[in-house]
Amino acid sequence: MGKSKVLIIGGTGYLGKRLVKASLAQGHETFVLTRPEIGVDIDKVEMLISFKMLGAHLVHGSFNDHKSLVEAVKLVDVVVSAVSGVYIRSHSILLQLKLVEAIKEAGNVKRFLPSEFGADPARMKNATEPGKVTFDEKMVVRKAIEEAGIPFTYVSANTIAGYFLGGLCQFGKILPSRDSVVIHGDGNKKAIYVAEDDIATYTIKTIDDPRTLNKTLYLRPPKNILSQREVVEIWEKLIGKELQKVTLSREDFLASMKGLDYAQQVGLSHYHDVLYEGCLTNFEIREEGEEASQLYPEVNYTTVEYYLKRYI
Ligand SMILES: NC(=O)c1ccc[n+]([C@@H]2O[C@H](COP(=O)([O-])OP(=O)(O)OC[C@H]3O[C@@H](n4cnc5c(N)ncnc54)[C@H](OP(=O)(O)O)[C@@H]3O)[C@@H](O)[C@H]2O)c1
Repeated sequence: MGKSKVLIIGGTGYLGKRLVKASLAQGHETFVLTRPEIGVDIDKVEMLISFKMLGAHLVHGSFNDHKSLVEAVKLVDVVVSAVSGVYIRSHSILLQLKLVEAIKEAGNVKRFLPSEFGADPARMKNATEPGKVTFDEKMVVRKAIEEAGIPFTYVSANTIAGYFLGGLCQFGKILPSRDSVVIHGDGNKKAIYVAEDDIATYTIKTIDDPRTLNKTLYLRPPKNILSQREVVEIWEKLIGKELQKVTLSREDFLASMKGLDYAQQVGLSHYHDVLYEGCLTNFEIREEGEEASQLYPEVNYTTVEYYLKRYI
């Protein structure tokens, strides 16, 4: 059996661009949805052209044009979506319902991977408001996929390293501090940090793998399951300096959300669930899932230490 042809939706995005490159690198014939709505966004146009020069096919289509989506989907075996889902940037998770309709009508897709790449939404029923909206919307998309009988894999990437590691797990920071750090609660809840390119590599690895058909793929690189204090300790060793630590209680953290705009409140509630509740590590993977580093031990994933070294 040859390698599946892949359509990447959201291909110029933060994760999407890495998915395009990983798909090409792993030898898949790769198609990238090219939306007319990008207009005169010269950066996106340049990026799309660079994909084309790497061997990708650009497929014109729009979420506002059902027929164009059906035609795009008919070109491939697998659809991977990485549309936006971070309120501080942009949010288009529910747009994927249109994609589900197109995949259903096309009837040829062997697997669909919707835009998830975070905490497993099925386990976030008690998530903090207003951030719960992200998980609720991802579950709406899952329901539509499953009701349409579309084969799927959901990728739970836990935290994307650039957001959480970059700021030593402090919301609103994506560069590591060199003087002081705010420690959330006791700082001992474990989270999981995955480098962007590794998320893309594991995601593309899974698309032709029967072991992950109709399952959730959890990315849990063993060396990257660390508490905030452990992350800070690694950074301190790298810069040869101890940071001043200020502890923030759960109550003060939640109180600090009041008065902020909606997008920031959504982001802070996600940090609350990860750092105070330990939502990424408080469960075992059962028969509904598989773990990526066990399925694909050949992937030499980026460790937290290696990732943090980039900031020195
Ligand atoms: N766990 C974590 O720490 C974490 C952090 C960040 C994101 N995530 C998740 O990762 C996924 C991807 O997020 P991202 O940050 O990579 O996304 P992003 O860069 O903000 O956006 C990705 C793409 O979404 C498309 N898009 C945006 N607005 C659109 C609209 N109105 N109509 C149609 N398409 C639109 C664009 O596609 P085009 O290329 O076609 O223009 C854009 O490039 C989301 O599910 C998000 O929740 C998780």
